[in-house]
Amino acid sequence: MINLTLADIAAAVGGELTGGDGDIAVTGSVEFDSRAVSPGGLFVAFVGEKVDGHDFAPAAISAGAVAVMGTRPVAGAPSIVVTDPLDAMGRLARAVVDRLPGLTIIGVTGSSGKTSTKDLIAQLLRHLGPTVAPAGSFNNELGLPHTVLQADERTRFLVVEMGARGAGHLLYLCRIAPPTVGVVLNVGSAHVGEFGSVEAIAAAKGELVEAVPATGIAVLNVDDQRVRAMAARTRAEVVGVGEAADATVRAVDVRLDERGRPSYTLIAPAGRVDVQLAISGRHQVGNTLAAAAVALWQGLPFTDLGAALGELRLVSTRRMDVFDRPDGVTVIDDSYNANPASTEAALHALAAIGLRRRRVAVLGYMAELGDQERAGHEQVGRLGAELGTDRIVVVGAAAGPIQDGATQVADWGGESVLVTDQEAAVALLQAELRPDDVVLVKGSRYRTWAVADFLRGYCRRYCRFPHHDLHYAAGDQVVHASEGRTTDPLRRPQDAPGQEGHADDGWRGLHPGHRRRVHRGTLRARHAAGQAAGRTDGSDHHRGGPAGPVHLPGPGRLRR
Ligand SMILES: Nc1ncnc2c1ncn2[C@@H]1O[C@H](COP(=O)(O)OP(=O)(O)OP(=O)(O)O)[C@@H](O)[C@H]1O
Ligand SMILES: [Mg+2]
Repeated sequence: MINLTLADIAAAVGGELTGGDGDIAVTGSVEFDSRAVSPGGLFVAFVGEKVDGHDFAPAAISAGAVAVMGTRPVAGAPSIVVTDPLDAMGRLARAVVDRLPGLTIIGVTGSSGKTSTKDLIAQLLRHLGPTVAPAGSFNNELGLPHTVLQADERTRFLVVEMGARGAGHLLYLCRIAPPTVGVVLNVGSAHVGEFGSVEAIAAAKGELVEAVPATGIAVLNVDDQRVRAMAARTRAEVVGVGEAADATVRAVDVRLDERGRPSYTLIAPAGRVDVQLAISGRHQVGNTLAAAAVALWQGLPFTDLGAALGELRLVSTRRMDVFDRPDGVTVIDDSYNANPASTEAALHALAAIGLRRRRVAVLGYMAELGDQERAGHEQVGRLGAELGTDRIVVVGAAAGPIQDGATQVADWGGESVLVTDQEAAVALLQAELRPDDVVLVKGSRYRTWAVADFLRGYCRRYCRFPHHDLHYAAGDQVVHASEGRTTDPLRRPQDAPGQEGHADDGWRGLHPGHRRRVHRGTLRARHAAGQAAGRTDGSDHHRGGPAGPVHLPGPGRLRR
């Protein structure tokens, strides 16, 4: 963060400074996880149902925090007392933005691909200047200000992911970080359970481009009709991207290689260039076109674009992460999250990568689909079968309609199996996987993470739900900076339809106008710590870690 005095901060957030001198400067970062605090930082304490962040203030102070911002004074430390620390984070973030007139803010929204595209945009913009865009999915009222607060006087571009679970959410985020560039990727059925309808999702996503000023640009995926229609909702210059003939930044001649990596010819007003991507999945065509449009309009020379696009890499984990194990099995770890559109994209990638190989899809429950739940699961099962997937492993009873969908495809030559849980999926894979197989792992959040971790070889002990002991241990405060998920998934019955709804409590609590119930469940501080450290997903592992699972050989050195 830029250096601010405690008096500045108290004024910005409407808080009261006690127990310290207003001239004390915050020179470090603003953190809500005591373990992420560095010298000179500010610790923000949230009060949850089970845990009180103020209890961690002493730890934060010993880690170097110069003050605490919370709902009550903390003994022995300067305290900025506010009624609502979350609101205060937003106000502070906006105050920082207001002090950085040279900053260009790029907001990214959509039902699928926000994190991936945010990472792509940031990689391109770094050719032009210092860019803040932390890895991971910091997209809500907590994650977004936390991201914004990382900007300082050197920052030229701030790329923020913006998630919405209802009307007004993006509006609120845009007030914290007013974008001059708004990118809308797609409107799908992700979170339709909360929104009620896809139309309501489109209405909410369009708030981003409504917030972009006339001097800014709205980058719209014109291949998605609902996104295309948002052109009427913005004063900004519209830059259409996609494969449609009228797209301003357009891809033609799209092909995929044996790793599912697209190549295409990009056509823009400045010319045309052949692009070979190093990342997998046909959906990366649209994501990279959006990133290219942002970068070109910010001044990236067209002559540099093809090479820059070819250099793009994965940044946030568990998204289209394709790697080869030494036993010859290729894994597509796309397990971060799932909805019907992203699962369909992943199944297409599996089909491309496994063109002449045995293909296995491990598919878990897709949460938050509301009354489209059954149809959504059946739809991906059908597609899996239509694409000729050899084995569809459905994880958990709630995902059962995937199997129903697959078996509806009369001439499908493959087989599906429904297993009770991830442990059973792991046992099945241990028994069945053969060299040269290609395995896709996909499900909503944690629902297939243990399977992906097993395939990666991260089970350091015998692979019985490694995430319980190793990766997702609970920490101090209950805060999740991504989409308001403030509950502990491991404490909820896995794969229970509708249960994901509890996660909304985060949003309802976080969002102004809703009842304040910010922190439910157990704080995922280790998760938060992992995210703050540039890791994602709450896991504390890195790629290429130790080998482990018993029957299959560990991955050793993974090839990409
Ligand atoms: N344009 C796209 N269309 C469909 N699926 C996509 C697209 N881009 C990425 N995906 C897939 O969607 C999943 C989620 O990707 P990503 O995390 O980038 O999206 P997100 O919008 O940030 O998700 P979340 O809502 O969880 O924050 C991944 O499996 C990824 O491979
Ligand atoms: Mg995300």
